[in-house]
Amino acid sequence: MKKKLLVLTAAIALTSVNTILHAAGDIHAGKEKSASCSGCHGADGNSESTTFPKLAQQHASYLVNQLLAFKAGKRKDAMMSSMAKALSDDDIADLAAFYAAQKISRNDMPVLPANDDDEDNEDNSPNTAKTVEELIAQGSDLYRNGDLTREVSACIACHGPHGEGNKPAAFPVVHSQHATT
Ligand code: HEC
Ligand code: HEC
Repeated sequence: MKKKLLVLTAAIALTSVNTILHAAGDIHAGKEKSASCSGCHGADGNSESTTFPKLAQQHASYLVNQLLAFKAGKRKDAMMSSMAKALSDDDIADLAAFYAAQKISRNDMPVLPANDDDEDNEDNSPNTAKTVEELIAQGSDLYRNGDLTREVSACIACHGPHGEGNKPAAFPVVHSQHATT
């Protein structure tokens, strides 16, 4: 019980720090500052390339956390670490407010990658015997129910019934993200 309370207090403390950052966020200033991000993440946070995550419609709380983590070196990425180092707290708040206010784009139906390991694979058939529909059903089941035998928690508990995440808790939106990022 005590432990639970401690965790809860810590979570509230963390959230309130980010609320202060978020409260100061200015969408219009964020849009101007996003010019240096748009080459990779797209003008409205919907990156065309699946190498770069979409930022549109993501919770500002989560975006703030990630940018602070890159800046502090807790999360590392060759491209993002140097980008984040140059950002002030105001920049981070403005950028997060801007991306959170954009609408995330929908994805096309995924295409399974061809099995490149098999040299005889002339018709580029995929690396799995399952169809896309079967894989989506399998993912949906894991998302909703988790898997006790492998101790995987149900994702829905934190990321919500529609992948919408949880803003106060800074649990990210996961729907419509590129499958590979
Ligand atoms: C040169 C390309 C590039 C530029 C420019 C860039 N990013 Fe990124 N960004 C990336 C990549 C790659 C990742 C994924 C890193 C990883 O896998 O951990 C990323 C990840 C992020 C994430 C984490 C997203 C998530 O879902 O966890 C945020 C937030 C972010 N970038 C914000 C920004 C902002 C704000 C700017 C501009 C100030 C910016 N990026 C500029 C390439 C870039
Ligand atoms: C107990 C809560 C919890 C559960 C359960 C959970 N997640 Fe998460 N997830 C989080 C949090 C919190 C983060 C962000 C971590 C951070 O701030 O670095 C996250 C991050 C992610 C991200 C990265 C998002 C991004 O934009 O980069 C993905 C993808 C993800 N989770 C998918 C899943 C899947 C799939 C499952 C189920 C198998 C799952 N999560 C279960 C809390 C949870």
